Amino acid sequence: MTCTFSPPVLRFFHVYGSKPKLPLWFKHFDHGPDGAGEAYHLGVFGKTGSGKSVLAKMILLAYARYPRRALLVIDPQGEFAKDMRPGGVTGGFVLPVGDVARNLGKQSYVLTVRNYESIFFERLTVPRGENRETACGVLVEKLQKAHVTLGGLYQRASFDKAWRLLGDDRIQTQFYRSETSRGRFNDLWREADPDEFYEHYWLPVAELFRADRRGAKTVEKALASLLNLEGNNELPRSRPILVVDLSREQAQNLFWNDKIQSLVIKRLLEGLTESAEYLYQEGRSLNTLVVIDEAHRLAPRELPREDAAARGVRSVLVDAARTTRKYGLGWLFISQTLSSLDMEILQQLRIFFFGFGLGPGQEFQSLRQLVGSTGKALELYQLFRDPHSSFDVASREYSFMTIGPVSPLSFSGSPLFFNAFNAVDEFLAANRLSETRSR
Ligand SMILES: Nc1ncnc2c1ncn2[C@@H]1O[C@H](COP(=O)(O)OP(=O)(O)OP(=O)(O)O)[C@@H](O)[C@H]1O
Ligand SMILES: [Mg+2]
Repeated sequence: MTCTFSPPVLRFFHVYGSKPKLPLWFKHFDHGPDGAGEAYHLGVFGKTGSGKSVLAKMILLAYARYPRRALLVIDPQGEFAKDMRPGGVTGGFVLPVGDVARNLGKQSYVLTVRNYESIFFERLTVPRGENRETACGVLVEKLQKAHVTLGGLYQRASFDKAWRLLGDDRIQTQFYRSETSRGRFNDLWREADPDEFYEHYWLPVAELFRADRRGAKTVEKALASLLNLEGNNELPRSRPILVVDLSREQAQNLFWNDKIQSLVIKRLLEGLTESAEYLYQEGRSLNTLVVIDEAHRLAPRELPREDAAARGVRSVLVDAARTTRKYGLGWLFISQTLSSLDMEILQQLRIFFFGFGLGPGQEFQSLRQLVGSTGKALELYQLFRDPHSSFDVASREYSFMTIGPVSPLSFSGSPLFFNAFNAVDEFLAANRLSETRSR
């Protein structure tokens, strides 16, 4: 293929089974050049190991070309977070997303709940590791005994209780055996300003767990400033990539569990949707894409009735998928199967990528419904090989079938087939991302 295209078109992938490159369109959501005029939602599906997350990172880099486009990744496994660190990589296909984005003039940040928690304890010189874990453990236990709930942690009375506990000699001996350490800790604790600790280190985390609407407001404010949503349109400050790491590892000491994770995700999604609505009323577009990895966990089709926390997350997501397009807020859902993802979300997607391994049975039926029953496309899809069946890494193929308006070649409405690049340098060079690296 010899045609050349303006920047929004990235010649991303090899046409399936041959060498020419397939151009794909990744338009931003605002009006104006290269804009779609409104947001749209995308879905990436395929068996575990089929290359979904890597494809999503490539798509992120396609959108990273737009300075005014903000990108937010909800990262339940902490996998994207690793790739954002300078020189950071996850092994396998080593795509330095953070480095490349920086070279495109886009900053990237990783947000973890622990960022705050560690400052709290570092300020009190409780070192990382065992002492800090014990201190957290004792605090949680005592607060629970005093009937302080997670949702009520933000209240000043809860903080005061925790603060008093930290100053209690019997408690201190549990996390500091030696008298010298205790002495040093006590000096600091006495001199510290509790108001400062409450406002700056306690509240930002505790607000995330707050059950009422004010919690969402706080998150909304934090997101608005992190995503540079406040700057006016005449000053085109670049908007960043923000990865919210919600993995178990990032929050060890906070006694992270699925319920807490759900709650935090729900807060984030509500905050985001509200920002989008607010900007829309002001005549502006949020122009933001949110990547949700493991979407089948956050918006599963089946959920036990009693799991209120998980139901809350799902309903926020489903509502968002239905309503936020006009606000310039689009979603990219990644899921291992079609049938495990909420039906309504599936119906809202406009662009689909299907990797290896959907089918047979129910999955294949869902695929047939989406692609149409022309047969030919599905026959080709069934020829995809499991990338991990290759003996050597270099010959692995990460194949995808795509439907929706994703390419100048998709005008006929029939699916397109491609192999993702399987060498990082080749991907960067073909998409003219490598020359920016030395800038
Ligand atoms: N285009 C590619 N070229 C080379 N290696 C790749 C490519 N895509 C994925 N891989 C490698 O294959 C492995 C699985 O990829 P990835 O994590 O993207 O799969 P996944 O579909 O997201 O799986 P899961 O559902 O388990 O999250 C990783 O080691 C990754 O580095
Ligand atoms: Mg993945």
